[in-house]
Amino acid sequence: MKSVFLLFLVLAVALGGCVRSQASGLKYHFYKKSCPEAEQIIQDIIWKHVAERPELAAKFLRMFFHDCFVRGCDASVLINSTANNSAEKDAVPDLSLAGFDVIDEVKTALEKACPDTVSCADVIALAARDSVSFQFKRPLWEVQTGRRDGTISRKSEALANIPGPTFNFATLVQRFANKTLDVKDLVVLSGAHTIGVGLCNFFSNRLYNFTGNGDADPSLNPTYAAFLRTQCKSLSDNTTSVPMDPGSSLIFDTHYYKNLKLHQGLFQSDAALLTNQRSVHIVDKMLDTENFFHAFKNSIKRMGAIEVLTGANGEIRKKCSVVNS
Ligand code: HEM
Ligand SMILES: *[C@@H]1O[C@H](CO)[C@@H](O)[C@H](O)[C@H]1NC(C)=O
Ligand SMILES: *[C@@H]1O[C@H](CO)[C@@H](O)[C@H](O)[C@H]1NC(C)=O
Ligand SMILES: *[C@@H]1O[C@H](CO)[C@@H](O)[C@H](O)[C@H]1NC(C)=O
Ligand SMILES: *[C@@H]1O[C@H](CO)[C@@H](O)[C@H](O)[C@H]1NC(C)=O
Ligand SMILES: *[C@@H]1O[C@H](CO)[C@@H](O)[C@H](O)[C@H]1NC(C)=O
Repeated sequence: MKSVFLLFLVLAVALGGCVRSQASGLKYHFYKKSCPEAEQIIQDIIWKHVAERPELAAKFLRMFFHDCFVRGCDASVLINSTANNSAEKDAVPDLSLAGFDVIDEVKTALEKACPDTVSCADVIALAARDSVSFQFKRPLWEVQTGRRDGTISRKSEALANIPGPTFNFATLVQRFANKTLDVKDLVVLSGAHTIGVGLCNFFSNRLYNFTGNGDADPSLNPTYAAFLRTQCKSLSDNTTSVPMDPGSSLIFDTHYYKNLKLHQGLFQSDAALLTNQRSVHIVDKMLDTENFFHAFKNSIKRMGAIEVLTGANGEIRKKCSVVNS
């Protein structure tokens, strides 16, 4: 009896460690009874828009990341600033977010079908999945739901929690660890940079006068740096965007890692993933599509569970851009 119990304990610990599980209070198909059509409504509207504007996939994936890293995945990123509060949206990293209009359209449809039921936080999580999945015509990962919406959104907290493009490996690891995400999550989720664009001023320090000798960042491929200088004309260019994964910037694939290995990662935070042995090992594994997709499923599930509000906490916002009165 005792040994059976011991075996069970060993198994439980091993299994727990293996899947890095966590009890978040979220579950699959949370709205199955309360709003059975919710996930279909969201997918229909998201797919309609992504068909016309494929760049939206990157917007929603990044929106989900920025939401989860600030006060957890609670749709605080959607709240508008007011006369007496500067909200996350007005923080520099969030200025280039987009797709809020589509989120509002989804929410309006959900309120019509099932009033006061589906949270804006879950809409973001599902919009990220569905927009990225559009090109595959099937869900690329499953999304747990049951998040509730927060009531607080502060510009200063966005700056304090979202990692910056000039971060080195140690500071990236620190920011992720603070959200209970590990080095593997960091490398795998950075693979999101396989789609979308980056503004010149987030990386042009790497192109011009990197160390004060009129030089470029030596860790950036010189040919690629020369190309980027033709796109970003000055250090302060904050209007030009370039694809982060040139050639396949709309396609969710492993090219991010292939570019990274060629020293063509756009940001210092991308290049930083090559500065640590364990991280490089994970990068090498992510060159394989099956490995990357499998790992991404796990890591984005973990990201989607950061500091979530569930049960009676938070609220179900009626409009995603304002807290309920
Ligand atoms: C590891 C730390 C990270 C840093 C420092 C970082 C930084 C950045 C920066 C500076 C941009 C350019 C934004 C712009 O110019 O508009 C960007 C774009 C993007 N990021 Fe990240 N990011 C990180 C991790 C992530 C994660 C974890 C995800 C999602 C899982 C993500 C998804 C995206 C996407 C999809 C874009 C393209 C956005 C667009 O096309 O508008 N990033 N990131
Ligand atoms: C929130 O701000 C956006 C953009 O400024 C605006 O279009 C929207 O109407 C605002 N939401 C509300 C509920 O006022
Ligand atoms: C903040 O401003 C809003 C209107 O923009 C108002 O409804 C609210 O009472 C104000 N809150 C505080 C704490 O002043
Ligand atoms: C994250 O940082 C905050 C503020 O610095 C701290 O209170 C919290 O304990 C940290 N959490 C983890 C898991 O490191
Ligand atoms: C490069 O940086 C150094 C040190 O900050 C500065 O003295 C120099 O003028 C800069 N050169 C150019 C071309 O901006
Ligand atoms: C871009 O730079 C200009 C001039 O430095 C500044 O006025 C403007 O606010 C910046 N825009 C953004 C979106 O950062």
